[in-house]
Amino acid sequence: TIPFVPFKVKDISLADWGRKEIELAEAEMPGLMALREEYKEEQPLKGSRIAGCLHMTIQTAVLIETLVELGADVTWSSCNIFSTQDHAAAAIAAAGIPVYAWKGMNEEEFDWAIEQTLFFGEDREPLNMILDDGGDLTNMVLDRYPELTSGIKGLSEETTTGVHRLYERVKNGTLPMPAINVNDSVTKSKFDNKYGCKESAVDAIRRATDTMLAGKKVVVAGYGDVGKGTAASFRGAGAIVTVTEIDPICALQACMDGFEVKKLESVVPNADIVITTTGNKDIIREEHFRALKDKAIVCNIGHFDNEIDMAWLNGEYGNTKDEIKPQVDKYTVEGKDIIILAEGRLVNLGCATGHPSFVMSNSFTNQTLAQIELWKNSSNYENDVYMLPKHLDEKVAKLHLARLGAELTELRQDQAAYIGVTVEGPYKPEYYRY
Ligand code: NAI
Repeated sequence: TIPFVPFKVKDISLADWGRKEIELAEAEMPGLMALREEYKEEQPLKGSRIAGCLHMTIQTAVLIETLVELGADVTWSSCNIFSTQDHAAAAIAAAGIPVYAWKGMNEEEFDWAIEQTLFFGEDREPLNMILDDGGDLTNMVLDRYPELTSGIKGLSEETTTGVHRLYERVKNGTLPMPAINVNDSVTKSKFDNKYGCKESAVDAIRRATDTMLAGKKVVVAGYGDVGKGTAASFRGAGAIVTVTEIDPICALQACMDGFEVKKLESVVPNADIVITTTGNKDIIREEHFRALKDKAIVCNIGHFDNEIDMAWLNGEYGNTKDEIKPQVDKYTVEGKDIIILAEGRLVNLGCATGHPSFVMSNSFTNQTLAQIELWKNSSNYENDVYMLPKHLDEKVAKLHLARLGAELTELRQDQAAYIGVTVEGPYKPEYYRY
């Protein structure tokens, strides 16, 4: 089948630098470090062969090494062609973990890298667990290697877009294994998607363009979790933010948070920056490109690059692309320049380094708990999509409080009885929305 390649990274000599940053990140990832401590004797992932496909960053390196410390064999690829931090990949390769990821790979290399992760070591043993972000690894296995699925105990999925794909499969009867939706743990989507983007959205624009943000007019398309964080990010930088939405509830939330809600057509001519956060396709199209003013910046922070009609810019209009630096391109439409970041791919990982470690520790603690649960108790589950139970969601949060010096109030017995919960939690009913 596929010959064994021990790893492929841009430059293995970056490993020492990567290792130093991994050690710094560990101090900011208390959830993952607590799981290492809790499970180091038990080795709950022993025997598992986890293929992972998730942005190969410093934070992900801490996740990978946590899975290994819990007994797993791990192979890794990145779920985006621009999101790898080459020093993180090098450190993981130097630690003897098969990783196939470098920043700026092409689409063909992207598929090649995912494919490498399906078989382990010289013996070419196939994967028996999937850890995915966006569903590209899942699709590769289910659609191109269906013979491998019977040996896989389960999969855990990191992001909104990947979770959509899984529910779609359940509807069509094409999900051949149990799956855990990590995204919709409260301690994932209400933290990573929101507070993560609140830090990393502006970070991306600054690193890519150095443009002054205060006073600029920014349009944020979509006001879900990522949109809320992104809008807050630009507001925090002093920009004037307008939101577009299709869902009246999210539109009203944006209004209550003090943002104007408008149609894209109404605001695009005055926008200095337009950023998409919808997880939907074809948000910024020809008519918007034509209406934009000179030097407007256009980018996307959703999972896939189809939120912006790059095909029109790159082909149909006639290619006017002029690279300013990697992941920053100038196009000229009707005599006006448009700056496109990360070729329309998720900008915070393409032009910056993604979310900070602390918030990713919340997400990845959920990922690790999901992998343990599916590996140990797969037979308790149907071929369906599940969420982690609320007591684990609360546990993830609890593991992150001490780092911030928070004091958590303990319920008294009679208080717990009065509000109908137990002293140990869970503290909220399933229908509570946070
Ligand atoms: P969400 O479902 O909470 O929010 C998306 C929002 O966009 C919804 O409120 C929806 O009503 C709105 N929307 C849909 N079509 C629209 C249209 N045509 N115009 C305006 N608004 C529209 O999803 P979430 O969690 O915010 O994720 C959004 C995307 O970001 C997904 O692709 C997800 O995978 C990705 N993501 C990216 C992260 C990053 O670091 N870059 C982190 C987490 C998620």
